[in-house]
Amino acid sequence: MSLRLINGRDVAAQVTEALNDRLQVLRAQGINPGLAVVVVGDDPASHVYVRMKGKACDRMGMLSRTHILPSSTSEDDLLSLIDSLNADAEIHGILCQLPLPSHIDERKVIERIDPYKDVDAFHPYNVGRMLIGDPLFLPATPAGIQRLLVSYEVETRGKHVVVLGRSNIVGKPIASILMQKGEGADATVTVAHSRSTDLEGLCRRADILIAAVGIPLFVKADMVKEGAVVIDVGTNRVDDPASDKGYRLVGDVDFDNVKGKVAAISPSPGGVGPMTIAMLMENTVKAAEMSLGH
Ligand code: GUN
Repeated sequence: MSLRLINGRDVAAQVTEALNDRLQVLRAQGINPGLAVVVVGDDPASHVYVRMKGKACDRMGMLSRTHILPSSTSEDDLLSLIDSLNADAEIHGILCQLPLPSHIDERKVIERIDPYKDVDAFHPYNVGRMLIGDPLFLPATPAGIQRLLVSYEVETRGKHVVVLGRSNIVGKPIASILMQKGEGADATVTVAHSRSTDLEGLCRRADILIAAVGIPLFVKADMVKEGAVVIDVGTNRVDDPASDKGYRLVGDVDFDNVKGKVAAISPSPGGVGPMTIAMLMENTVKAAEMSLGH
């Protein structure tokens, strides 16, 4: 069986291209979408993601404001910054990069963001709207996974999707999105996690396996069905003295181990990652459109 590679870079470029028309319409009305990204502390991976988000805005000519705050920042100061961004007419999208330092209550911060500027879609208002099938924004990584599946014409209707991992950022929302009615959804979804009985057996029953556990190379050939479609969401840093940085990124799926058995795979890096950024840009453009009452 020939292996199909599900390439996030190509689809992300298409998503971005399609946004250019919408940007022109907005600019004709005097609006340039603005994204504020807040990062607290010095988690190296967070800083990489935040830089990528800012650069994506720059490439599209959108306004980007990055607030880099020390890990000693108080919760009150962070909440005040969110308040000022909520009130800032130039800013249409706000996101606070997670994780936050342990002295800050993540939920309090997320709930302070105006739901109409919540381009991460982490606010309970947006989580609720997603769950009932009437989303305002969808969270970027799960929305990117769905867009990849649709773009590569991977049928989800009636298929058994197994989601490996139950995080609020990927596992729970992708399960919620793929179980909805409609195109690119209508799936039967199982959410498997560290406490699941017979995790390997559950994964082997998946027509589509979405790996989002954060364990390097966790998924091996004996965990996938012959002909399955595999989406690797993992981006794990593993030590690599041979590399300049001293580490390299690997996914949750052992690509070389599963490649002879699966029909299609979205590898990591190169698969879902670029889609996350593209969908964030789409949400920011949507937020700007909504500010005009579109
Ligand atoms: N941390 C890991 N993924 C994400 C994300 O998509 N958004 C934010 N804000 N933080 C994250």
